[in-house]
Order: sequence, then C-alpha cells, then structure tokens
Amino acid sequence: MNMHSADAETAEEAIAVQEKLDGNMATSMAMEETLLSPRFYTTDFAEMDAINVDPVREDWNHLIKRMVSDPNKGHFKKNEDWERVDWDGMEPNLKKEFIDFLISSCTSEFSGCVLYKEMKRRGSNKDITQLFQLMARDEARHAGFINDALREAGVAVNLGFLTQKKKYTYFKPKFIYYATYLSEKIGYARYITIFRHLERHPELRFHPIFKWFCEWCNDEFAHGEAFALLMKTDPKLTKGVNIYWIKFFLTAVYATMYVRDHQRPAFHEALGIDPAEYGQEVFAKTSELSKQIFPITLDIDNPRWNRNLVRMQKANVDLAEATGKAGLGAKIARMSARFRVAKAFIALYAIPSKTHQVPESTRLEPVW
Ligand SMILES: [Fe+2]
Ligand SMILES: [Fe+2]
Repeated sequence: MNMHSADAETAEEAIAVQEKLDGNMATSMAMEETLLSPRFYTTDFAEMDAINVDPVREDWNHLIKRMVSDPNKGHFKKNEDWERVDWDGMEPNLKKEFIDFLISSCTSEFSGCVLYKEMKRRGSNKDITQLFQLMARDEARHAGFINDALREAGVAVNLGFLTQKKKYTYFKPKFIYYATYLSEKIGYARYITIFRHLERHPELRFHPIFKWFCEWCNDEFAHGEAFALLMKTDPKLTKGVNIYWIKFFLTAVYATMYVRDHQRPAFHEALGIDPAEYGQEVFAKTSELSKQIFPITLDIDNPRWNRNLVRMQKANVDLAEATGKAGLGAKIARMSARFRVAKAFIALYAIPSKTHQVPESTRLEPVW
C-alpha cells in the first residue's frame, strides 16, 4: 500500500516515504549550492529535557491537545486543487528563483524536523518528547510536500543525504529558543501574508502550492506557541542581559529575510509583491506576535530602519558580485562590502527598541 508523507504519524515514517520516491532521482547542482543555507542546528539536549512545563501547564495542555488532534493530517499532498504546472513554459528567471525558493524552504523545514526529531529521540521528559515528536511530524510533512513539488521540476532534495552531509551548528538552548521561536512566527507571518494577497489576486498564483499556505502557516503558528511556552517556564530568558540577545535575534532574522527576499526579484514580481513592502508587513505582524513573550520590539518605523536595510542589501549585492572573482580588486571589493554589511547591521541594532508589558499568558490565535 502506498502511504504518503502527508498521512504519516511520525517524522520517521514521512521521511522514509519521501526517500523511497527519490531512489534514483538525480540531485541537481542547484541544490548543492543552496545547501549552504539555511543551517542545521544541534544543542544541549539534556538541558532542554530538564524543562518543567508545570508553570504553564494549562496553556501547554491546550496546545498539545490540539496538536494531537492533528487537524492537518492528510492535508499536505496533491489533490484535485493541484493544477498541472507548466515548468517548461515558465520564464527562466522565475523558474530559477522559484526552485531556489522551494529548495531553501524544504531545507529549512527539514532542518527543523531534524532538530525536533533529535530532541525527541534523546529526551526522557514526557512533555518535551511529546511536543518535539509532534513538531517533527509536521515539519517532515511540510518538507515532503515541497519535495513533491520539486520532483515535478526534476529536482529532489534527498532528505537522508541532507541529514548526513549538512554541517551542524551548535547553539545553546536559549539561542535555539530565540532563533526557532522567531523562525516559526516569521514563517507564519510570511505564509499568511502571501496567502491573503493571493486570495485577493488569484490570477497571480503561478503555482498551486500557495493554496496550501493557510493550513501550513497554522502549523508554524502552533510551533511558535510551543516555544513561547518553553521560554515562559523560565522568566530569566526574557530579562536582563538576555534582552540584548533577543534584540540581536530579532534584528538578524528580519535583516536576513529582507536581504534574501531581494535576491529573488522575478519571484516577487510574478506574485505582484514588492519585497520591501512585504518585508515591512511581515515584520509588523511578527512584532505583534512576539509581544506575547518578548518585552521589546524593533522600531521598524524609525527612518534609520529602512535606510540601513537598503544599505545592507546593496552591500550584499556587491559582495555577491565580487565573490568568486580573482584578483586584488575583487578582494578589496569583498572586504569593503563585508564591512558595509557589518556597519549596516550595527546601525540597525543601535536603533532604540520599543518596550511594553508582556501579558500573563502567552496564548494567541492565528487570526491574521
Ligand atoms: Fe514547517
Ligand atoms: Fe514549524
């Protein structure tokens, strides 16, 4: 019987199904280059396993109950809403950027899956292992679905290969919380913004996968809720010197999104989205969400914010242009571009942030 990763109840099942499909598929060159980003993470699993969720028990049980009920089981697979995609007829730049978008999305879904699966495997705390098993399940389904889309274009991300060959970066648990929480919430904000935009402009939906973004981002929303609760169990994580770390992660996550999105002009043009405006909308939504747990938000309306994002993006374009070129001139160009990226980042970081009262309970609903 042919099972699909969308119906799998564990991450392991979903990955096995996907790997079978990729048996003899050639992994494209494009994929190898894009493998460099996003990253894979590892952490101090024993420290995470020691978390006691009793201080947030009520909200925790509510969230876990909903995840166990599995409203999206069977959702992440092609059905009659999946129209045929004319890959050969697609404008070459758009095709290249869109494939790049799918590969990097698939890799980051899978990066989450691997981290969550590992936590589940190494832990013995029932609350923690249950949560991470549920999140790994969702991410494996997401990655599998993107892989289905890529396979139609003759590309497949070999998930087993990725697990073995990717480099792992060690992050202390608290940095995992900040980075992963933000990536789940910004993931929600990105997907829901695109989904709502395409609801208003269905003629711009050049690929059927965007129809799945609504349920998709609800999964990411729930994952973000889980990390908010994990942070809530330890008030130190959002106080004192850690506020500087929170600001660092907020700035890094927002700036990275801005720079990466600007690397895909044809993709955004096809969707009828201006990456700068889209970025601002996503930052505003993410900030609104992150108030549930972080006592600060970035001042994204400060004129210095946009000015330095633009500077950073331009420096990044210059860096990309000088990369791979030989000679002293190119070397100087690279150094100068790196300096400008760092300077813009510091300028963004130096903008005073906004403070506010964090609510008693973190609980939020995906109402955007
Ligand atoms: Fe996901
Ligand atoms: Fe997620």
